[in-house]
Amino acid sequence: MLTRRDYLALTASAGAALTLPRSLFAQRGDVITRPIPATGERVPIVGLGSSATFSQVAGADDIAAIKDVFKTMLEQGGTVFDTAPGYGDSEEVAGRAVNELGVRDQVFWATKLNVAGRGTAADPARAREQVETSFTRLGRDKVDLIQVHNVADMATQFPILEEYKQAGRVRYIGTTSTFKPQYAALEQLMRDEPFDFIGIDYAVDNLDAEQRIFPLAQERGIAVMVYMPFGRTRLWDRVEGHAVPAWAAEFGATTWAQFFLKFAASHPAVTVVTPATSRAHHMVDNMAAAKGRLPDEAERRRMVELIESLPS
Ligand SMILES: NC(=O)c1ccc[n+]([C@@H]2O[C@H](COP(=O)([O-])OP(=O)(O)OC[C@H]3O[C@@H](n4cnc5c(N)ncnc54)[C@H](OP(=O)(O)O)[C@@H]3O)[C@@H](O)[C@H]2O)c1
Repeated sequence: MLTRRDYLALTASAGAALTLPRSLFAQRGDVITRPIPATGERVPIVGLGSSATFSQVAGADDIAAIKDVFKTMLEQGGTVFDTAPGYGDSEEVAGRAVNELGVRDQVFWATKLNVAGRGTAADPARAREQVETSFTRLGRDKVDLIQVHNVADMATQFPILEEYKQAGRVRYIGTTSTFKPQYAALEQLMRDEPFDFIGIDYAVDNLDAEQRIFPLAQERGIAVMVYMPFGRTRLWDRVEGHAVPAWAAEFGATTWAQFFLKFAASHPAVTVVTPATSRAHHMVDNMAAAKGRLPDEAERRRMVELIESLPS
């Protein structure tokens, strides 16, 4: 297994070029995996998110559909699931789904912590209660990843996650943001705090994270979980009525979902991309993006140019 130090040495040697050393680019079955820098543990590059339509379906208590999505993700070689107590019923229904399927130990379970209101401090007792509720919903003694949601009251909430990690109950900790005005605070925190992971928005039409966040993650050995790889509805609206270009088949993208996910996953700072879906056939489509090869630097440029050429 690669340690954080090995990872840093390898990514440093990869330099600014958007190419990964072969040892960072292994397959799990036919699914591409990436190492979490803190430990070298490998995870499949595509997983599953749970806001957007997933939370609506979970809210309708459609456990059958949610179970189908989990079953499909695992069958297709995925493991990583991202949720949050803040996504309506998502965490609770997902917990029931993996328990009813008997697959809770096969899922890399990433959830979040946030009990701070807008501009108000978090109550430590309520924060601990929220973490305990996440454990109960999953039904496991150990959760893989908990991140402070949207860098909210880090001074109160992050030390609580550190305590849980110290106690061996959480394997990885970090924070998330998908709001540009929070990026400067996120950057400072990445320099100051011992994060294993960050979660951030990134897509073929939303490249801001490449400027400072991704290089810093590589420098500090922090795993990157990509959120909103479709911009929720934004990219779907932009490509509506347009065919996927034939040249994308050269790196195995035959649908727009694969095009968008292969783009996000091909940045070398990215560890895993977690698109949300509530439909099993979309899960199959999304996992296909983790197979075959990823676009190289020239192909990535071409992908950006194509999307930029379409009216937004
Ligand atoms: N601050 C944070 O921590 C934060 C913020 C935002 C997001 N996130 C995480 O990131 C995840 C992803 O972001 P997101 O949910 O905002 O948006 P997203 O993944 O960019 O887009 C989800 C949308 O794409 C559709 N979709 C999924 N796969 C598809 C496919 N193969 N073909 C066609 N449509 C497809 C989904 O509908 P269907 O259900 O119909 O497939 C849904 O409407 C979230 O679920 C959440 O876990 C975290």
